[in-house]
Amino acid sequence: MEKYELLFSPFKIKNIELANRITMAPMFVGYANPDGTVNSLVLNHYKKMGCSGAALIVVENVCIDATGLGSPFMMRIDDERYIEGLKMVADVIHSGGALAFLQINHAGRYAYAKDRIAPSPAAFGQTMPREMTTDEIHHIVDAYAKAALRAKRAGFDGVELHGGTGYLLAQFLSPRLNKRNDSYGGSLEKRMHFPLEVIDAVKRSVEDYPVGYRLLADELLPGGFGMDDAISFAKELSKKDIDYISVMIGTHESYNITPYVEIEKTEGYMALYAKTIKEAVPGIPIITAGRIQTPECAEKILNEGSADLIGLARVLYADSLWPKKARGIITEPIVPCNPNCSLCMDRILQGKRPFCSQWSKEEKQAYRDE
Ligand SMILES: Cc1cc2nc3c(=O)[nH]c(=O)nc-3n(C[C@H](O)[C@H](O)[C@H](O)COP(=O)(O)O)c2cc1C
Repeated sequence: MEKYELLFSPFKIKNIELANRITMAPMFVGYANPDGTVNSLVLNHYKKMGCSGAALIVVENVCIDATGLGSPFMMRIDDERYIEGLKMVADVIHSGGALAFLQINHAGRYAYAKDRIAPSPAAFGQTMPREMTTDEIHHIVDAYAKAALRAKRAGFDGVELHGGTGYLLAQFLSPRLNKRNDSYGGSLEKRMHFPLEVIDAVKRSVEDYPVGYRLLADELLPGGFGMDDAISFAKELSKKDIDYISVMIGTHESYNITPYVEIEKTEGYMALYAKTIKEAVPGIPIITAGRIQTPECAEKILNEGSADLIGLARVLYADSLWPKKARGIITEPIVPCNPNCSLCMDRILQGKRPFCSQWSKEEKQAYRDE
């Protein structure tokens, strides 16, 4: 008998069966080539994740349009020529026994682009994005739909829309950032217009295929999108028959401020938010992530009904054997992600390839570029 009965029980998303409740939450590592293509670093990383014993790997956010590139080392899906490389990513994950979903994204005002576009001009750092025209909105909706279809053609088992971390979909929802006077801004109903239009277009293009949504439940910023709006939006997602909601909190602007800095050190820190969303849309599978360092914590979250699936990002990056150790297939202790360490994120922000402080010297060496 399984020690962690719920964690190692199967679960269905749409018509696909997950062998257990462990998923890799998308984690951008920026191992791609500067032209957005896949290389051996990307493939080695995802091969390791695919072999981890997690049932599902949600691959980090990839770029759907040149205006929405989040980083110079980001995988891209805004052209047919990227399909071949992405197919290799899906294949290495499958070869390890896991299912593979791909997260697709437009970075909006966070983009690594000269001409930054956003719902409204709201500065990020020194740069001011310009307001998207209606034609640009339609173009980006179409870009999401095309990207999702490419993900399907590349052999991914599903696609996830990145509505988290304060990227474009979240920017439209945010009363702090969306000051438009047209049908895409103003009331919550109007702020939901763009993300819901994206979902419709994506679902039309991929037809009968799993589509999940990463939901930013709370920006944790004054005047920002918060839990009440998130509940209303989750209900709209449910009407659109979204196949799961992966709940998260915080944006690039809240990551360095209290209360987030302290909250995010706690085990299972996003489970409470996931639970509130789950209660609002009981029929939709819910994923929660956030320092789920131990199988005890994961089992408790599932047992309390806070979520249906567990997401591990840094936790799985720190120890890719987490699922096998949790199951007792490997008897060594889990190597925890150090809550006082932000090396992976720090290196990414410095434009360097990340590695984990918990890895061996040899493992780290492959990712050092200085
Ligand atoms: C370096 C880094 C990159 C991330 N990249 C993504 C991403 O591409 N898409 C996304 O939805 N979340 C991303 N996240 C958030 C994670 O999916 C996850 O919600 C968060 O890190 C908490 O889980 P953890 O404690 O297991 O890392 C990222 C987090 C980190 C630290």
